[in-house]
Amino acid sequence: MRILVTGGAGFIGSEYVRMLLGAPGGSAADVPALDPTGVTVLDALTYSGNMANLAPVADDPRLRFVRGDIRDAALVDEVVAGHDVIVHFAAESHVDRSIAGAAPFVTTNVVGTQTLLDAALRHGTSRFVHVSTDEVYGSIETGSWTESWPLSPNSPYSASKAASDLLVLAYHRTHGLDVVVTRCSNNYGPYQFPEKVIPLFVTNLLDGGTVPLYGDGGNVRDWLHVHDHCRGIALVQQKGRAGEVYNIGGGTELTNKELTGRLLEACGAGWDRVVPVADRKGHDRRYSLDITKISQELGYAPSVDLEQGLAETVRWYRENRAWWEPLKTASAAQAGA
Ligand SMILES: NC(=O)c1ccc[n+]([C@@H]2O[C@H](COP(=O)([O-])OP(=O)(O)OC[C@H]3O[C@@H](n4cnc5c(N)ncnc54)[C@H](O)[C@@H]3O)[C@@H](O)[C@H]2O)c1
Repeated sequence: MRILVTGGAGFIGSEYVRMLLGAPGGSAADVPALDPTGVTVLDALTYSGNMANLAPVADDPRLRFVRGDIRDAALVDEVVAGHDVIVHFAAESHVDRSIAGAAPFVTTNVVGTQTLLDAALRHGTSRFVHVSTDEVYGSIETGSWTESWPLSPNSPYSASKAASDLLVLAYHRTHGLDVVVTRCSNNYGPYQFPEKVIPLFVTNLLDGGTVPLYGDGGNVRDWLHVHDHCRGIALVQQKGRAGEVYNIGGGTELTNKELTGRLLEACGAGWDRVVPVADRKGHDRRYSLDITKISQELGYAPSVDLEQGLAETVRWYRENRAWWEPLKTASAAQAGA
């Protein structure tokens, strides 16, 4: 089976590629065997794409890397040919950036997805796996979202992801394309660009700096280790029913304040390092996923305990300064430019 992974040089996409190719040190034992004969990564290498994320599998002869943009229809058409499955991660993924400027979110997340769908139709791709987010559901005060919950996105990022989800499902209903959509909660783990809360806080703390806590710190997120997310996607790729949506959650809800407390403890720092900042515009209060469907249909259950996963993640950033220091330096230079 030949698999095309878009956004495979990003945080989650690269974990999927490392998992598919059985990267040394990865825990492939608990992953559904997809046994790809070839894996092509199509990635534009934006600020968050990084070839270093693929270093553990760089010498695998099954891996082919194509630097390119999913909005480039001619290139996408050429690359999609000959692949059995597309697993689509490529996206603009940071809410704060979407508040500062929504245009690349619409062009990459919506138009880029449509470009891929058209190529998949033309080439008879046998399965299109669309990786989405729980943020498309909006914010929920109590209870948890099932897959049939209405979409009510609040940020330009989540609105663009919701639009792409609907397009993917429309290509199934209209054209009969075999698609599956996954919606997952907040991911954490190694190789996450240090702008998202966990790697940002951990790297700031390891550098002796402070961390910015939004508003009253009471926003609740469900945390999912990236390895569990990718196991869930692999199950959906292999056994999910065409035209269906599957939530993938971690079952571990924390307020941002609780998460901050855990990260401070793991880094040996105190609350004097926390700087309260004005809340994010339109900040969703709580996300919570019901994962009954994927658990019952596909046998999914998260396996990484949050406490252990956070400790291992902090250790990874502590031991891999060479990975994140240049990224922070480049971001700081860009912000100052
Ligand atoms: N990080 C999370 O917690 C989370 C949660 C739910 C869903 N998701 C979804 O998972 C997917 C991956 O997220 P991530 O956290 O790994 O993001 P990321 O920002 O780390 O990676 C995105 C990758 O896509 C590439 N890319 C961006 N625009 C592109 C374009 N126009 N053409 C080709 N490549 C392009 C980037 O270079 C990068 O390698 C996204 O679709 C995101 O919406 C992420």
